[in-house]
Order: sequence, then C-alpha cells, then structure tokens
Amino acid sequence: MKKMHLAIVATCLMVMPVGMASAQEQTMENGASIESNPDQAVEDAGVISAEEGHAETPHYPLKHPHEMDWSFAGPFGKWDLGQLQRGFKVYKEVCAACHSMNLVAFRNLEALGYSEEQVSAIAAEYTVTDGPDASGEMFDRPATGSDYFPAPYPNPEAAAASNNGAVPPDFSLIAKARAVERGFPTFVFDLFSQYQEAGPDYIHALLTGYGEEPPAHVTILDGTYYNPYFISGPALAMPQPIYDDQVDYPDGTPQTVDQYSRDVSAFLMWAAEPHLVERKATGFITMIFLIIFAVLMFLVKRRVWSGFAH
Ligand code: HEC
Repeated sequence: MKKMHLAIVATCLMVMPVGMASAQEQTMENGASIESNPDQAVEDAGVISAEEGHAETPHYPLKHPHEMDWSFAGPFGKWDLGQLQRGFKVYKEVCAACHSMNLVAFRNLEALGYSEEQVSAIAAEYTVTDGPDASGEMFDRPATGSDYFPAPYPNPEAAAASNNGAVPPDFSLIAKARAVERGFPTFVFDLFSQYQEAGPDYIHALLTGYGEEPPAHVTILDGTYYNPYFISGPALAMPQPIYDDQVDYPDGTPQTVDQYSRDVSAFLMWAAEPHLVERKATGFITMIFLIIFAVLMFLVKRRVWSGFAH
C-alpha cells in the first residue's frame, strides 16, 4: 500500500512539469502557430477579432528569430574579417541611405583588415561639414580617417519626414539594443551555452522576414510593411531594404538576401562591440586564473588548519 502511494506521488511529480511546460509553450509559441491554424492562432495572439470587436495586445514578435551560426559565438569566437568587409559593403551601399552610425569613425575600419591607405580612400568618398573657418563660415571637405560616419539626414525630423514618420535608428549599437526575449527555460540554458547573439539573430530574421502574407484580421497601416519578426508590432515603416544581387560581391560569395543579411548583421555586431574577441580572450584567461587560485586557496586552507583537531 505504501509503495502504491509512493508510486502515485512520483508519477504526479513527473507529469506536472510536463503539463506546465506545454502550457508555457502554447503561450510562447502562439505566433509561430499562425501557419498551422491561422484563425485560432490570431485569436490566441490577441489580434483584433472581427466578431468580438475587441483587441488585446498580442505578443511580438509573432515569430522568433532562428539561431544562426556565427563565427564570433562562444568563448573562442573570432571575427570573420571577410564577412565583416562584405557586411560593411552592404551597409555602405544600402543601409547608409537611411541609417546613421554616429559612434563609428573611419579609422575604426582598420579592425576589419583595411590598411591605413584603404581607410583614407574610403573616408575620402564622404563629405563632412567642418568649421567655422577664419571668416566664421562652415565649409564642406572630404572626410579623413579621424572623422565619424556622416549621418544621411541632418536631424531626426528630416529623417522622420522622409520615412513615413519613423526615424531609422542609429546603427552604432543596434546589434546590442535589440534582442527577443527567449523565455524560460531557454534563458537558463543560455547562461551555460553563453548565447549572446540575440541581436544579430534578430537583425538577420528581420531582413529575411519580409514577403509573407499577413494573417487575416491583422490590419497593416498605410506606409508600413508586414514582418512577423519585428519586435514591436506586426509591421514596420522600413520596406524590405535588400534583394538578391543588389550588392556586388567580387569574391564569389553568394549574392542572396540571406547572405547579405548574415554579413550585415555580423558587421553591426562588430560596430556595437568592436572589442568582443579581446573580451572573450580575457574572460577565458580570467577563468583559468580563478580556477588555479581556488585550488591554491584550498591547499593553503588545509595547510593552515592542519594542526587543529576537527
Ligand atoms: C529607405 C530607408 C531605409 C533603408 C535603406 C534601410 N532602413 Fe532600416 N529602417 C528604416 C526605418 C524608417 C526604420 C524604423 C522602422 C519603424 O520603427 O517602424 C528602420 C528600422 C530598422 C531596424 C530596427 C528595427 C527595430 O527592431 O526597431 C533595423 C535592424 C534595420 N532597420 C536594419 C536595416 C538594414 C540592415 C538595412 C540595410 C540592409 C536597412 N535597415 C536599410 C529605414 C530604412
């Protein structure tokens, strides 16, 4: 009889977390299930239901970004300089038309493997405003290595006026400023796997996430574009910025939206955290030091207390 009780209690304990987890999954994955059953999923997501005529705030993004394979991930992560240079080309030729990168100077590009002369040549393609000169006038001159990337718009108002009222965010820190919440229990595993690539994963998902049909009942406002990966709504004011074959890759790398998105996301991660590789190397050496130090402390403690009876 006692054994029977034990068995019942043990079964309950085992089944409970499974039940809780599946309930959690339902709430977390409600966006992703849109494909399987559109009407039900839209109601789950709380998007306006025509019959009931009321709206609850759905959980954005409707779809979670996929985890990509980044060369800079993990404790021994390193930049892929070829990829960063391609990503910079994509930024320069496409994104820079709308997005500024105020905290990055041309000379920082030397970290991507460019020589000083190459950096000067890149900088010289840009014009910056300097001054005032001796007569008190501002003047334009070609940029040099010590200048920062000039912004495409003179002020946020001008940027908003050209983009349907939405200001394209500055790119200096964007890869660190955006991350989709991973939820329990994933964030616990992330502590151990050292997952820190939520920013580039999000940017890649956003850039490759255009072109889907919005689910029924989701209203897309004029001047906005449906993207289920956008973190704060069903649609954003940026139209799909990049298409296949838009940027020329002379090294033969595939010229696809997916590849462009990977490269520009990696470049934005570098812009946001240029010392990532050094940080990881220092962290690793620090861990080794702490482990050796802990062993030494343990041995010292044994030695100091060896004369005392327990
Ligand atoms: C035609 C102008 C334009 C171009 C070109 C453009 N963007 Fe944007 N971008 C915008 C606007 C406007 C927003 C703000 C959208 C909003 O908040 O609704 C934005 C927002 C973003 C965001 C932030 C989304 C968020 O979660 O807030 C990212 C990331 C982004 N763009 C990446 C890119 C990349 C990468 C490129 C180049 C491949 C690019 N954009 C090219 C106009 C542009």
